[in-house]
Order: sequence, then structure tokens, then C-alpha cells
Amino acid sequence: MRWESFDSSAALSLRAATLLLDTTRKTPSAVLGLPTGRTPIGMYERIVRECGQDYHCFTEVVTFNLDEYVGVEPEHPASYASYMRTHLFDHVDIQLSNVHIPHGTATDLDLECRNYEEAIREARGIDLMFLGLGRNGHIGFNEPGTPFNARTRVVELTESTRRANAAWFEDGNVPSHAITMGIETILDSRRIILLAAGDGKSEAIERLRDGEISENFPASALRLHPDVLVLCAANS
Ligand code: GLP
Repeated sequence: MRWESFDSSAALSLRAATLLLDTTRKTPSAVLGLPTGRTPIGMYERIVRECGQDYHCFTEVVTFNLDEYVGVEPEHPASYASYMRTHLFDHVDIQLSNVHIPHGTATDLDLECRNYEEAIREARGIDLMFLGLGRNGHIGFNEPGTPFNARTRVVELTESTRRANAAWFEDGNVPSHAITMGIETILDSRRIILLAAGDGKSEAIERLRDGEISENFPASALRLHPDVLVLCAANS
């Protein structure tokens, strides 16, 4: 696991955007794993700014989002589908047929999860996966206690995660369940970049760096992967 520290989340975002765009320039048909949350917003802003000048950054890029809330329509403002449109997809030349986000309103959620895994396999796996870090160490929506061999599935969210994400929902009512890529699905990615910044993350960052590898702290699974870069902002 390699680490890079930044004085500000703006500097972290610039570095993350550069790494993403370097990848898509080198491999125009790269398969990317993409996160949501507050942390990657700055990265997406940078990408949009840069790709406004060079409007061919995403022509062949394929994306798979990490997760989505169960029971939330893609048009709902708090859905991760809306988030991705607002922060990235509406502003770059990505083909919507190349965009994958789990459907939280699918009638058969287990089938949806199996199909998601199949779609990742058909795309020949994820070249570069970007992740955020939950305060309790969750990655995607893999909460503490998740077995490291978990694949894409429906999960129940912890109270602390629902509280942390309440601001995204007008009524503060966060769904109780989500679909998330599993830890093993994430670890199958060829390269992983974790973005760690924001209020209340310092304990999680410390635990990721120095703590034990344990299912009680899902992000620690990343230490088992041969190519992980952590970008962290010192002010977090
Ligand atoms: C949510 C997402 C995670 C994200 C985490 C951290 O729970 N499912 O993928 O990493 O929030 O979000 P933030 O960047 O807002 O702290």
C-alpha cells in the first residue's frame, strides 16, 4: 500500500483527477470503478473542468459505480445515479450504455446483484477503482463485519452510516438497505486508489495505516491487494 499526503482536499482532488485522466488517456477504453460521497466531488469537478477543454476524455470509458440505495429511483435527487449525473456524467462525453450503477429499485435485487457481477466480468474486470472511506472503515457500503470474500449483494446499513448520509436526503430519512460491490469484487480490480479526506476521518486513516487487518475494519482488506494508493488530506 502506497501513501501520498496532501495539505488540502483541493490538492488531493487535483492529484486524483490527474491519475484518473492519465489512465483514460493511456487506455481510452479503461474500465473505472467510481465512488460517491463528499470526498470525490472535488475530483469530479477537476475532471469536468479539464474535459471541457478536451471533450473526448470519456468516449470509450466504461464505468461501474460502487453502490446504490435500495428502493430509491435513479431520478431521486439523493440516488447515486443522480449524484453521478450531476457531478460527472452530464458534463463529459461518456456513453450512457457504458455507465453501470446498481438498480436499487429492481424487482429481483439478488438477480440485479448477480447481473452486476456478470457485467463487470464481461467488461474484463475493473482497471482502476476509486474508493472513499467511511468513518467506520466501510468501503462501498461494506460495513464492519463484512467477510472479505463478499461479492455484490444487498446489505443493511448501520445507524452511523445512515446518520453520516442523512444530509443527502431532504427528510433525513436514509434507506435501510443498499446494493454494494463486495470486498472481493473491489479487490479483483487491477489498481485501487482510496481517497481519504473530510471531517472525522483521521481515526479511520490511522487505523487503515497501522491497525490490524480485520473484518471489523473493512478498508483493512485493501492491505491484501498488491496495487493500492491512498491519497489522504492532512487536514482531515
Ligand atoms: C458512503 C458511500 C461510500 C463513501 C462514504 C464516505 O457511505 N457509500 O462509498 O466512501 O459514504 O463518504 P464521504 O466521502 O461523504 O465521507
